[in-house]
Amino acid sequence: MRHRLKCPEVKAAERVPAIDADLAHAWSLPSAFYLDAQIFDAEKEAIFARTWQPVGNLEQLARAGDYFTCEVAGEPLLICRDEHGELHGFYNVCRHRAGPAAQGCGTRKVFRCAYHGWTYGLDGRLISATEFEGVQQFDAAEFGLRALRVDAWSGLLFVNLDEAAEPLVASLHELPRQVERYASSDMKLAERREYTVGCNWKAYIDNYLEGFHLPSVHPGLNREVDYNAYVGEVYTRHAKQWSPIRSGGNGDGRSYQSSGGEEAAYFWVFPNWMLNYYPGNLQLNVVHPLAPDKTLVVFEWYCSPAMAQSEAFFEAVKLADQTQREDAAICEAVQKNLASRSYDRGRYSVTQEKCVHHFHRLYADALRTGTAPA
Ligand code: FES
Ligand SMILES: [Fe+2]
Repeated sequence: MRHRLKCPEVKAAERVPAIDADLAHAWSLPSAFYLDAQIFDAEKEAIFARTWQPVGNLEQLARAGDYFTCEVAGEPLLICRDEHGELHGFYNVCRHRAGPAAQGCGTRKVFRCAYHGWTYGLDGRLISATEFEGVQQFDAAEFGLRALRVDAWSGLLFVNLDEAAEPLVASLHELPRQVERYASSDMKLAERREYTVGCNWKAYIDNYLEGFHLPSVHPGLNREVDYNAYVGEVYTRHAKQWSPIRSGGNGDGRSYQSSGGEEAAYFWVFPNWMLNYYPGNLQLNVVHPLAPDKTLVVFEWYCSPAMAQSEAFFEAVKLADQTQREDAAICEAVQKNLASRSYDRGRYSVTQEKCVHHFHRLYADALRTGTAPA
């Protein structure tokens, strides 16, 4: 079964402008794409319900029976590990009257619906339908929780609401090979923060995809990374930006210490998640659209258990938190101005905004065709 999200008639596809493949000639996405509720609903169906979305990490499902609930594209989901060690993803919607089959997170032998008590196995099958004796033409085997695809990569858990989507690792194209040199297997989740930002999710991603604003918006971060050596590269479905960490550090108000050679590497994966590698820590960002002008950004910091206790880690979190607040402020100012009658579209800097242009091209293709680009 292909699960379709309930969505309004999708006319958004007809409104998507062509974004010129030539950066030097191209115009950016029109401002209506950052403001319009119809576009917002169409994005859910064409983009968020068709791409692999990060929902957690393998530590959360270390043992049989571990589970957690989450949301993707407005859909309530339940992710768990069964008694045979297998991972499962389900819509967290009871097949009786749509109550929640599970709540929060924890460890269970079965899931018991909070409404009338139907119970489901860790593999989603309906075990008992309370008070259903005498119901005719009712086959419990047909009333298991609806399943969805779940997979793991590099310790992170992903789901995809599209049964026909390509496998997770294939969808990442060049990314797994590129992050090999940064990834470390002893990294554990050390800190998690949520930021609600008053802007469209694409305004947040646009801002992430260029280092152009670093000197004016992030004086602190600009002391750490060498803006003049900032590089952006585009790949099939992601972009990589990186910059050397400036030599020196600490003792002079700096967060990172470097004797030279270290770099900060920022990977963005279409449409909405990022991996930021700094010396000794990895930051995962997941950008959740909540409304046309409201976005939830989840930050998770991963590092070794020893690093998590260190002053250096405290400094790294402080710098990222400060940077995030600065980004949120400028994105909110931009969101307000996108609604101005004076503005519709802009041009791209050829030297600085190659990655923003790539995002807009991927986005326009996905929305126009109703499928995420392969
Ligand atoms: S809605 Fe789940 S048991 Fe009734
Ligand atoms: Fe920024």
